[in-house]
Amino acid sequence: MAEEKVEEESMIAQEIKQSIPKGTPKRRDVVRVCFVVAIALAVVGMVRKWAVPASETYEEEGTDAREFDVVVVGAGPAGSVVAARVATKMREKLGVAAPRVLLMESGSGSQRVLGGTDWMFRDRTIFDVPLAWSYVAQLSKYLWRVPGGFLARTVGGCGAHNAMLYVRALSSDIERWNASTWSWTTVKNKYLELEDWQGEVDVAQGYAIPSVGDLTRVPAHHAAGGTIATSAGIYRDLLARKFLETVAHPLHIAEGVGMQYSEDFNAPSSRRGAGYYHFNIRDGLRESAAAVFLGGSIEGYAPIPNLEFQSESTVLKLGGLGEGRVSTLDVARRGGQTKFLRPFATAAPPEHLLLAPDAVVVLAAGAILTPHLLHVSGVGDPALLRAAGLEPLVDNPAVGSGLMDHPAVGVVFDVAPALTADMVGLYSRFLNWTRGQPFSTYPRAFGYPGFSAGAFFDSGVDGENDPDLQLTVFPLQIEPHLAADQARVRYDQAIVTVAVVRPDTKYDVVPNPRDRAAPELVLRGAAPPPSSTTGGRGGIAPTDAKRLVAGVRRVREIFARSPLRDYVTKEAAPGPTVLSDDDLEAWVYATYTQNSHWCCSSNFGQNGALDPTDLSLKGVPNLRVADSSSFPHIPNGNVHSTVVAVAAEFADRLANERVDYHRLKASNADTNHKKKKKKKKTVVATTSRPK
Ligand SMILES: Cc1cc2nc3c(=O)[nH]c(=O)nc-3n(C[C@H](O)[C@H](O)[C@H](O)COP(=O)(O)OP(=O)(O)OC[C@H]3O[C@@H](n4cnc5c(N)ncnc54)[C@H](O)[C@@H]3O)c2cc1C
Ligand SMILES: *[C@@H]1O[C@H](CO)[C@@H](O)[C@H](O)[C@H]1NC(C)=O
Ligand SMILES: *[C@@H]1O[C@H](CO)[C@@H](O)[C@H](O)[C@H]1NC(C)=O
Repeated sequence: MAEEKVEEESMIAQEIKQSIPKGTPKRRDVVRVCFVVAIALAVVGMVRKWAVPASETYEEEGTDAREFDVVVVGAGPAGSVVAARVATKMREKLGVAAPRVLLMESGSGSQRVLGGTDWMFRDRTIFDVPLAWSYVAQLSKYLWRVPGGFLARTVGGCGAHNAMLYVRALSSDIERWNASTWSWTTVKNKYLELEDWQGEVDVAQGYAIPSVGDLTRVPAHHAAGGTIATSAGIYRDLLARKFLETVAHPLHIAEGVGMQYSEDFNAPSSRRGAGYYHFNIRDGLRESAAAVFLGGSIEGYAPIPNLEFQSESTVLKLGGLGEGRVSTLDVARRGGQTKFLRPFATAAPPEHLLLAPDAVVVLAAGAILTPHLLHVSGVGDPALLRAAGLEPLVDNPAVGSGLMDHPAVGVVFDVAPALTADMVGLYSRFLNWTRGQPFSTYPRAFGYPGFSAGAFFDSGVDGENDPDLQLTVFPLQIEPHLAADQARVRYDQAIVTVAVVRPDTKYDVVPNPRDRAAPELVLRGAAPPPSSTTGGRGGIAPTDAKRLVAGVRRVREIFARSPLRDYVTKEAAPGPTVLSDDDLEAWVYATYTQNSHWCCSSNFGQNGALDPTDLSLKGVPNLRVADSSSFPHIPNGNVHSTVVAVAAEFADRLANERVDYHRLKASNADTNHKKKKKKKKTVVATTSRPK
């Protein structure tokens, strides 16, 4: 060994010797060399000042994206919050020198303020109208063709077409995460910081003018003055009122069929019970996270100077992972025009973006597409990747594992016409509110998503403390997951969805060996699906099937009591013949749907894919996951509020991290500069020291 080394060194010495020109250089040559060296040094100095150090120059060809410090993939609720917040916070602390943030979204404009153009009337698109959410949720133009339902491919993500329900996690949900860096206090404070509570409104008559309510007394568990509006519905449909009259009747409570009335599902210890929901609606218009965080920037009236937003840009692959860091991104432009998850089919070859050596990439592509993007980039369980023909580069088997949702079924009743939503009545009320103003100039829309009431209760299947079932009562067929079954769409029917909010069902997102462009969902502990056409239903855990059966029974009991009973003509589904536990269970397995509340697929739980503090991917420190993929367990209720809260907390941590990093870098550069100066001085002092 030692001998080999000596020999190698001597060979190098030989080479060096040979490369030195023989003889003493002429004076003219020395001057010329000095001149060339001086120019070269000056050029190098300039280059170093403007670009990256010589040692970090790129030999790879591609588009230079080195001006961006943070690159966010996906402009759904999570990505919008992260991009806007990181850019703003860095600018607050570093001023005009703040580094730049790039946000890339596959889809194109949705709401008016988000660049949408398929306008309904003057200043808004169909995405702005709360009542239209179910319709737009089904437009294939705005959807990814992936298993699992309605994954939006548009600016704003699923926050542009969801039902806008504002339901927070319970403290026990966050405690279950078991991470010291994600306490209930941390998450609760984020809910409050982000909330612009609109106050209670007077809806005694079933209708209320969509205006700001009483803000003189803001309860401690709400906050006015934040970014995203939360409000009570402005229209309480007759089904909701009859449902609550029935369910909260003392007699029915005494019987064990009814439930306590809950004023506010988000108030402490008020989740269990039945009541009216709160929504992310302001003045009757959808208040998406993207609209409030990015809207100003897109419209241009309040741009965030250090944020660049690129829509119709689909990130196909993260590069450089073999070296344990993301250094490039392959991006298909105008990807928003491709209907399928086959961006490879677009005519233009993907663009190859070269990132700065110290850039951070944040994934917010949603809980199904985030692990999918990681898989196609070579991160995951090596055996699974190889089986799909993908080259494993980073061994992180927790990527894609443990995906959760709130599995649901719909109980359908034929009802007297009076009980289905009185749309004509609502419309005439609305016209009355506009007080003669033309519809097109009225600044508000229907602040009604088509339903208003629900309930949380126990199935009795487990001995745990918090409710495990949620009901939502729809006076018209507007639940897109169920409306997809066209055979059931009837306008003289009401639907009650039963969803498991503390499910045992877990899936794995796996690469599809037959079609790498589309992920598959596999039920935990089940065999992989026989083909890629599973429709994303995947299956449910037996305990959840039992919970759903208990939920269906409870709904039947409620609807068999007055006053609700008086409006029901027949149970249409499961139907009067489906009575035994076995038959009900078979019906549940045959008809359950997903709820698009996806989370937990690359999480920061124990043995998870991420570090719980900075949400960095284990094995790739400059790659972060900011969407609901990161939750170790699904919250008890609709997840959007928690997606936004976690994204905001993550953004604050990342902004602080980047600010510290850039300050340190600047001060190091400064010290180096000073050191060099000092060194020079010392040399001068030595030579001029008197003898
Ligand atoms: C029909 C429906 C109704 C819902 N109702 C409610 C509700 O009432 N209340 C509630 O709390 N929650 C509801 N949800 C859930 C809620 O909307 C989601 O939890 C939330 O939108 C998740 O946000 P996200 O940012 O993690 O992901 P998403 O909303 O899925 O956004 C991800 C974004 O990333 C983009 N993207 C993906 N891959 C790439 C790529 N490779 N390159 C570039 N961009 C990419 C997508 O196009 C998308 O815009 C509903 C969801 C649906 C679908
Ligand atoms: C919580 O996390 C700690 C380690 O941080 C672990 O020792 C403990 O077993 C976990 N508890 C549960 C209930 O998972
Ligand atoms: C219309 O508005 C007026 C004035 O506010 C009110 O008196 C009337 O009852 C309203 N009519 C309807 C149908 O809501």
